[in-house]
Amino acid sequence: MRPTVAPFPATRLRRLRKSAALRGLTSENTLTADDLIWPIFIREGENVTEPVPSMPGVNRLSVDRAVAAAEEAAALGIPAICLFPYTDPALKTEACEEAWNPDNISNRTIRAIKAAVPQVAVMTDIALDPYNANGHDGIVRDGVIVNDETVEALVRMALAQAEAGADILGPSDMMDGRIGAIRTALEEADHSDVAILSYSAKYASAFYGPFRDAVGASGALTGDKKTYQMDPANSEEALRLIERDLMEGADMVMVKPGMPYLDICRRVKDEFGVPTYAYQVSGEYAMLQAAAQNGWLDGDKVMMESLLSFKRAGCDGILTYFAPAAARALKAG
Ligand code: PBG
Repeated sequence: MRPTVAPFPATRLRRLRKSAALRGLTSENTLTADDLIWPIFIREGENVTEPVPSMPGVNRLSVDRAVAAAEEAAALGIPAICLFPYTDPALKTEACEEAWNPDNISNRTIRAIKAAVPQVAVMTDIALDPYNANGHDGIVRDGVIVNDETVEALVRMALAQAEAGADILGPSDMMDGRIGAIRTALEEADHSDVAILSYSAKYASAFYGPFRDAVGASGALTGDKKTYQMDPANSEEALRLIERDLMEGADMVMVKPGMPYLDICRRVKDEFGVPTYAYQVSGEYAMLQAAAQNGWLDGDKVMMESLLSFKRAGCDGILTYFAPAAARALKAG
């Protein structure tokens, strides 16, 4: 048990809040640019910056613009960028072959960023949804998302990304056994130093709506993702998923969405003490931006407060669309 505080007036907790100096001395958590992973959307073309209407301030970028974003990340001290492709609907099939095409938009962007800004870590997404005619993260047979066949496809996708130079692979598909299968394949293919940040505890959430617009999956998706993503009612299951992925070779783990699931972040950090990340997802970003645009909230302040909440909950880092704005605000002091 911690010692109880002395009775008032010996203890006046406001003493340590009296000035910025004392608050600074006693603050328990800090956010730095080092804590940020910047998710970006990529698309075909040249010199294209195409706004995503449901995510004000976020754009789909052509490869050359994505390289410029990575250069911006480097200048701002953001250690990693995470790529999400908007795929031409003509390339979406039921077998999802485009997912492991060495020259798909993601793999070309990985190579371009690693050639231009090698110090920025490139993270990828491993799931079939951007390439799937059905919009699902896995292969669909007779209306069922089939696990083992999907894992084989995910392994191909992972190897193509590692081959292109990805530093961190992010399986976000929620199939069973994919971390072990990807880890084994990486070891066998001489990619033993490629890290896996597993989307271990990923909930079936309505907060992903704007993201699905951004990658062009909203129209394609039939049904929902509840047979593979987690039930928002569950918490114990999240710990089992994290433990399972760690045992299969995940280096880092993620809880997603972020703010509605801070309790899960804290439990994961306390239980396992491993590098733990949260994804402040598209819907969380959209909510704050919408309120700020209406003048209902101070956008900069809620951005920083929301990001700090992840640090308080035990996260080592945050995937956030606010990454460049937050890094700029941190630089400005
Ligand atoms: C795809 C994927 C999703 C997100 C990241 N990877 C959407 C989904 O599972 O439907 C969501 C990110 C966000 O909302 O910002 N597997």
